Amino acid sequence: MLPTPDVAADYEKVYEPAEDSFLLLDCLEQEKDYINTHYSSSPLVVEIGTGSGIVTTFMHQSIVPNGLFITTDVNPHACLASKATSLKNGGTPYLDSIRSDLTTALRDNIVDILIFNPPYVPAEEVPGIPKSEDAYEWLDLALLGGSDGMVVTDRLLESLGTILSPNGVAYILFCARNKPQQVVENMEQKGWQCEHIMTRKAGWEVLSVYRFKLL
Ligand SMILES: C[S@@+](CC[C@H](N)C(=O)[O-])C[C@H]1O[C@@H](n2cnc3c(N)ncnc32)[C@H](O)[C@@H]1O
Repeated sequence: MLPTPDVAADYEKVYEPAEDSFLLLDCLEQEKDYINTHYSSSPLVVEIGTGSGIVTTFMHQSIVPNGLFITTDVNPHACLASKATSLKNGGTPYLDSIRSDLTTALRDNIVDILIFNPPYVPAEEVPGIPKSEDAYEWLDLALLGGSDGMVVTDRLLESLGTILSPNGVAYILFCARNKPQQVVENMEQKGWQCEHIMTRKAGWEVLSVYRFKLL
């Protein structure tokens, strides 16, 4: 069992690691051989919506220590936390964090391994960016995903072909109310290979992680 990173984050403004975060860690541990076989040199690992940074820290600590890492988040407190969490666990010289909507701050076709635990809870709408950096509403942005909880994830899926490198892969988390089976069928019709990695019941939510790669 690989170690779980210690987190350095203010949970009044940054998403506290929960069952979804830990499911992602377990998936990435299970995928370690696949990742190291397919991305043996120095892959560019990008985590969207990094929150506390626990997932990216786990990646550089235990899965791809030779990787280059970028984290993004719309929440500035999360960008700072992801670097602080990395440092608390020994750090890596090749990590930066960008305050950005999804991957819009990055050049096209450069991401080898993309990871996203999105705001997946169905809600009337996706909240706007809080006006004040002190606002507690940052936590709403971590959870509320609009219609079917899929508004933010759908935007990411639509741009996946532009974001990933030619051999790139994406690990994305869904809850059952996101209708992941329907997502998989749509993506397969568009030429994506979709692998179910793991499903876990978390309270009354059922969470799953899928791997997406262009055929
Ligand atoms: C469910 S939390 C996941 C946090 C962390 N990755 C984890 O697994 O513990 C979702 C994160 O996505 C961020 N987020 C929401 N919308 C975003 C967007 N459009 N672009 C980038 N990050 C976003 C939130 O601020 C939050 O940190």
